[in-house]
Amino acid sequence: MERAATVIIGGTAGLGRDLAELCLERGHRVVIAGRDEERCAGVAAELHPECESFALDLSRPAEIGAALAGIDSVRHIALVAIERDENTVADYSIEDAIRLTTLKLVGYTEVVHQLAPRMSGEGSVVLYGGQAQARPYPGSTTVSTVNGGVIGMVRTMAVELAPIRVNAIHPGVIGDSPYWADKPEGVLDPIADRTPIGRLVTMRELSEAALFLLENGAVNGINLAADGGWTLK
Ligand SMILES: NC(=O)c1ccc[n+]([C@@H]2O[C@H](COP(=O)([O-])OP(=O)(O)OC[C@H]3O[C@@H](n4cnc5c(N)ncnc54)[C@H](OP(=O)(O)O)[C@@H]3O)[C@@H](O)[C@H]2O)c1
Repeated sequence: MERAATVIIGGTAGLGRDLAELCLERGHRVVIAGRDEERCAGVAAELHPECESFALDLSRPAEIGAALAGIDSVRHIALVAIERDENTVADYSIEDAIRLTTLKLVGYTEVVHQLAPRMSGEGSVVLYGGQAQARPYPGSTTVSTVNGGVIGMVRTMAVELAPIRVNAIHPGVIGDSPYWADKPEGVLDPIADRTPIGRLVTMRELSEAALFLLENGAVNGINLAADGGWTLK
């Protein structure tokens, strides 16, 4: 049997790709996934000759089991994927809301449901939430809702899957992530000014925090804010 893998769902871009890069640097066997098989294989090849990949669509949970059939032995799971959704209560898109809610709450859970039997008791899971659950912004209605849902998922999964550890990381605004890096000039400055560390957290800082949650055997059932103290001010 192959060495147990670190499976990163949403590993083709942004924070998931950076986590994949870090795990590869640290000697993990890494398997990344996104929606498109060719894109996944291309990103995996860019990251490392031994990085593996497969495709799945978290917004179609009934198909996740079949997509995961080729994954044998798992050490760590990182659930990072998101499809951006701009939604408000006043101008509500039911379709967009159902899509993101399904992806993050049902899709994440179904991946863990499928892979947990392929993990040993030393395995761990990290779920990516986000500080929009604590500090909403215009258009974050569904994002705030699902990221709040991640807090509950961590608690129930840490109990149900024991001794497998389950934690979540809640990024603030990660300045060098693709979603934020391309925003018009002036958008990020007020956010950095409001952050007690005086700047925005970087992708690599975030990935180091996620890796800590994956690897440290003492940490379980935690929702870790990694936002430079942004929500304090
Ligand atoms: N960036 C930030 O500052 C920030 C702040 C707070 C929270 N977060 C959280 O951190 C996580 C990563 O955010 P990010 O900014 O790095 O996202 P991103 O750059 O938009 O990357 C999203 C990833 O999810 C994958 N994906 C999208 N839809 C999918 C689906 N239906 N099924 C499977 N994979 C899918 C994408 O792969 P393909 O496109 O290849 O399918 C890609 O790998 C998210 O959970 C987000 O809520 C990020």
